[in-house]
Amino acid sequence: METVDILIKNANELVTLAGSNKPRTRKEMNNLSIINKGSIAIKENLIFDIGKNLKYKAEKLIDATGKTVMPGFVDPHTHLVFAGSREFELDWKLQGLSYMEILKKGGGIVFTVNETRKAKQTDLLKQSRLRLDNMLLHGTTTCEAKSGYGLNIETELNILKTNQKLNDTHPIDIISTFLGAHAVPNEYKTEEYVDIVINEMLPKVKGYAKYCDVFCEKGVFTQKQSRDILKNGKDQGLAPKIHADEIVDTGGAALAAELGAISADHLLMSNNQGLNLMAKKGIIGVLLPGTPFCLMMKDYAPARKIIDFGVPVALATDLNPNCWIENMQFIIQLACLNMRMTPAEAICAATFNASCSIGLNNAVGSLEKGKTADIIILNIPNHKFLPYHYGINLVETVIKKGIIV
Ligand code: NIG
Ligand code: FE
Repeated sequence: METVDILIKNANELVTLAGSNKPRTRKEMNNLSIINKGSIAIKENLIFDIGKNLKYKAEKLIDATGKTVMPGFVDPHTHLVFAGSREFELDWKLQGLSYMEILKKGGGIVFTVNETRKAKQTDLLKQSRLRLDNMLLHGTTTCEAKSGYGLNIETELNILKTNQKLNDTHPIDIISTFLGAHAVPNEYKTEEYVDIVINEMLPKVKGYAKYCDVFCEKGVFTQKQSRDILKNGKDQGLAPKIHADEIVDTGGAALAAELGAISADHLLMSNNQGLNLMAKKGIIGVLLPGTPFCLMMKDYAPARKIIDFGVPVALATDLNPNCWIENMQFIIQLACLNMRMTPAEAICAATFNASCSIGLNNAVGSLEKGKTADIIILNIPNHKFLPYHYGINLVETVIKKGIIV
C-alpha cells in the first residue's frame, strides 16, 4: 500500500469545489461538489488523492468524523501592511460622520500614511505579521496585499518589500498589488500626483507587484485618471484591479470591463450597464461586506443582482485600519446575512472564485488532485453551519502546503 504524509478520513462533508477551472457564475456558484464521508490524501505539498474510503498508509491520520473539510480561504483584497490604528474614528462614526468627512477631519487614509511613513521597518513587519497570524488561525491560506499607505516612492516600495518578506517567511502566500493611487498625499495636487504614480513610481515598483489598483472614487481619482494609471500599469506588466463605485458611481465597473481588469472591487453603487459589461467580459466582482459593516451603512453591495447579471463574485476582508478584520468566516456570515448570498455561493466566493481573482485558480481554491494541499478542517457538521454559527472560530485545523500549521 502506498504511503502518504497525511490522510484525512471520513469528513462528514468534504467540500471540494472541483469542476471547471473558470470563475463560477450564477447557479455554478451553488455547486460545491461535496463528497459525504470523504477522504483526502496529502503527499509533500500536494493533494495526492481525494474520494470516498481512500486506502493509504499515512504518517498522520486525521479522523474528521462529524466535521467539514474545505479549501483554505483565499482573501483576495487586503491592505495588510500599515502602521498604527484608528480606533478613535469610531466616536466620529457614531456621531454620524461619513468616510469622506472623517478623511477631511484628519483621519482616514492620510492619517495611516503618516503613521506608516514614520514607522520603523521592524515594527511594520511585526504589526503586519500579527495580522497574518490571525488570518491563518481563522483559515486563510492565501491572500492578496496592497501597498497604498506610503504615497511616496520610498514607502510604497518599502510596503511591497515588506509583503515580499512576509511571503518568504510566513506560511500564508501573498500576492502583491501596487496601490500608489490610494489617495492624494497632502503635498500634491491630484494631477501632479497621477503623473508621479505613472512616471516615477510604476517603473520602480513593477518588479515587486503582480497587479496595479486605483481608488476610483469621487474626490479621489476620476475615471479618466484611473484609466491613465491602470493603462500605464498594464504597459509595465501589472494587470489592473479597481476599487470601483464604493461610495459614488464613478463608472468603475465599466472601466474594469474596458481595461479587461482581473477584478473590480466593492461595487456598492455600480450601474447596471457597468455590471453587464463586467459579466460579458468575465471580470470578477470582489465584494467586501466588512466595509459597509464597519461604516454602519444601511446598504451593502447588491450581491443578488450582481450574481443575476452573471458576474462571478468573490469575497474578501478589505483588511485595513478602517475595516480591521482578518477573519473570512465573518465575511461569509455578512455575505449571507446582509447580502443574501447562499452559504454555497459565499463559500465558492471565498475560495475558488477568490483564487481566480488573484490568478491562482490553477493552484489553490479547490480540492483536486495535483493542487496545493491548502486545507481547513472546521468543527461543524456541514457547510451551512459556517454562516449559521457565528462569533467563534469554527476552524480547528489549518493545513498549508501539506503541513499542519
Ligand atoms: O478599500 N477605499 C479605499 N481604501 C480602503 C480603506 C482604506 C482606509 O480607510 O484606510 C478600502 O475601503
Ligand atoms: Fe480596499
